[in-house]
Amino acid sequence: MTSTSVPASSTAPADLRNARLYEPARDPASPNRNLTPLTTVIDAEGRLEVGGCTLSELARRYGTPLYVLDEATLRGTAQAYRSALAAHYPGEALALYASKANSSLAITALVASEGLGLDAVSAGELLTAVRGGMPPERIVFHGNNKSREELQLAVQLGVTVVADNWLDLENLAALAPTRPVQLMLRFTPGIECHTHEYIRTGHLDSKFGFDPDQLEAVLRHLQGCSWAQVTGLHAHIGSQIFELQPHRDLAAVMADALQLARSLGHPVRDLNVGGGLGIRYIASDDPPSIEEWVRTVAQAVAAACRERNLELPRLLCEPGRSLVATAGVTLYSVGSRKAIPGIRTYLSVDGGMSDNPRPITYQSQYTAVLADRPEADASETVTLAGKHCESGDVLLKDLSLPPATTGDVLAVFATGAYNASMASNYNRIPRPAAVLVHDGQADLVQRRELPEELLRYDVLPERLRPVA
Ligand code: LLP
Repeated sequence: MTSTSVPASSTAPADLRNARLYEPARDPASPNRNLTPLTTVIDAEGRLEVGGCTLSELARRYGTPLYVLDEATLRGTAQAYRSALAAHYPGEALALYASKANSSLAITALVASEGLGLDAVSAGELLTAVRGGMPPERIVFHGNNKSREELQLAVQLGVTVVADNWLDLENLAALAPTRPVQLMLRFTPGIECHTHEYIRTGHLDSKFGFDPDQLEAVLRHLQGCSWAQVTGLHAHIGSQIFELQPHRDLAAVMADALQLARSLGHPVRDLNVGGGLGIRYIASDDPPSIEEWVRTVAQAVAAACRERNLELPRLLCEPGRSLVATAGVTLYSVGSRKAIPGIRTYLSVDGGMSDNPRPITYQSQYTAVLADRPEADASETVTLAGKHCESGDVLLKDLSLPPATTGDVLAVFATGAYNASMASNYNRIPRPAAVLVHDGQADLVQRRELPEELLRYDVLPERLRPVA
């Protein structure tokens, strides 16, 4: 793995270079409430800068599309979770980064250095976590259909396995582990919340977790299994949630489950309430702050345990989106333009649904500006189209922009979560590079794919080979 570290043109602090804050109403304590990374400023020439690096210069140096990740924002959110848990939960607590949001060695190393743990859902995410320096005792392994190989890897690594169903228990028992496996049991809490139906998980009609009616049978079954040690209970209600009440309701449901598990002789230590806190993608989004979310969850869990006379469990939560989304900005180059009089103007960029499948999948909305003229008069309304062979490949509809021409760099905000991790090679388009910016320095953390690399796994049978 190669690593390049390139100092930006100027490493003087932004305020010494006549730079001023962009998004002045930004909440410095809770990045998920902002549209832009905490370090976003406008330099003396009116250009956007993140982490001390001018965005259009990054685009020139690394090419586009480019994922830019701001280290200060990522560390800021990690610290916000840690300090809120310490302030509002009377017992031990740990935030686990849900690495499905954006899994890479660099992000793992950052969240590990901030003292967080990690949630992984595949062999790939597990390997990334371990090689990125996350201690196995801070990793939990999820999945509603884990393969035997994945379970074996998890057991070998000594991470906590979140048992989702009976097959997990059968497969684990068949592995005949030499040391007891630390198990967390996931169940469906039966809680509805308002978010896109694809990312709701807490309602009873969900593929994830044991049905709550089965929990007692599972706990009784595990009484007789010496290979298992039930260390925790888990539930997750969904993602991009702005309401707090479902998280309060969850605490009561989980405390009941904790009481049941302990009454059946399982010395359960951990209560894992999942993730789900939403973020601001567009100006009208108004998610709670990290502190409000943690306070709500922490107080509700503590109160529910007190009411049931339960010794306080260790509180675990699994934020994904709210930890990384706002740290990310995607840069594109503007290409062709098609104006259809009386209908709309399409402005196409050099990426699209392969690097950000969220708009086409969930009709998600984003905020975008021209990187070198973020404050210029937005006199045009355009539809920002991707370059894929699909009419639905539209990143933003009805975006107000200053007149943009071919080669202009466009910055789309809040793309740090579920963009790189959900990227594909549709149309055999290589996936973008990612750079981490900090104090005027840019580090390549994911190299751009090359078209010829996409052929690496193709096999052409001998009989189909073109004759010379
Ligand atoms: N824990 C579990 C068990 C989860 O399933 C998830 C997300 C999380 C934690 C993290 O949730 P977060 O804090 O990020 O809301 N691809 C979708 C999101 C899918 C979320 C899946 N599970 C999107 O782009 O909106």
